[in-house]
Amino acid sequence: MKLIHSGKVRDVYEDRGDIVLVASDRVSVYDAILPTPIPDKGKVLTQLSLWWFEQLKDIVPNHIISATDVPAEFEGRAVRCRALKMVQVECIARGYLAGLGLKEYERDQAVSGIPLPAGLLEGSRLPEPIFTPTTKAELGAHDEFITFADVVAQEGEDVADNLRQITLDVYRKGAEIARERGVVIADTKLEFGWDAEGVLTLGDEVLTSDSSRFWPLDEWEPGRPQFAFDKQFVRDWAAGTGWDKKGPAPEVPQEVVDVTRARYIEAYERITGKDW
Ligand SMILES: Nc1ncnc2c1ncn2[C@@H]1O[C@H](COP(=O)(O)OP(=O)(O)OP(=O)(O)O)[C@@H](O)[C@H]1O
Ligand SMILES: [Mg+2]
Repeated sequence: MKLIHSGKVRDVYEDRGDIVLVASDRVSVYDAILPTPIPDKGKVLTQLSLWWFEQLKDIVPNHIISATDVPAEFEGRAVRCRALKMVQVECIARGYLAGLGLKEYERDQAVSGIPLPAGLLEGSRLPEPIFTPTTKAELGAHDEFITFADVVAQEGEDVADNLRQITLDVYRKGAEIARERGVVIADTKLEFGWDAEGVLTLGDEVLTSDSSRFWPLDEWEPGRPQFAFDKQFVRDWAAGTGWDKKGPAPEVPQEVVDVTRARYIEAYERITGKDW
């Protein structure tokens, strides 16, 4: 296979005209990659994404061809996909206020040009989920919020309408399923593309904790930073080492690796209702 792109945690190959997405066990915290992998993380997130694609297939077609027709060394953590022409918009849905959405709100009382009520706190649930697209920035650059009108200008009105509608439908369905199982999906990022027949298709990964914010419902409490379901333990550990969050991240001790691995598996088991 031909490596065509290497992201922070995944590698993208081209093979027989298809795309093969390979998830590694790498973990990023504070935008840095930890030197210590978390065993099985790539498999857990790949299997979770596959489960979601299946749940969502009535809402939108997806790019998955096969979860098994991949090189043996990547088994379980790779998917063969149809090569899409990617839409150059990161389609984000937010149901709660966090991250860059919170920053925009604190400055403008709006996110992506969508006005929000006063008095919301960090972690507050929004009156209804909103579509807050960003640019798809080149490597190293940061994605910037754009308004729905910007998406219309770039993609045309019909496509923009579809992107917004499908993104919100996927988020609503995913968030509802997860909430019943004790996991808040605060926000999520989707990527769409055009297939060979010109059909708008859901690509990339979907509703994993690398593309979304997952919070334990029983600990959710607006007015403070929320706990990330799987990554919080390793994140807090990293912050507690005195690491400046800029230079190379410190090696992770075995007990922190073990707890973090268990958290990834717990998120998978809670959401899918299946044993890992
Ligand atoms: N079916 C597909 N066809 C073509 N490209 C795809 C398909 N699905 C996903 N992609 C692209 O594959 C790439 C996956 O890369 P990846 O997410 O690992 O890295 P990244 O987005 O560059 O960086 P980051 O590590 O910040 O996520 C993205 O550019 C995504 O748009
Ligand atoms: Mg990406």
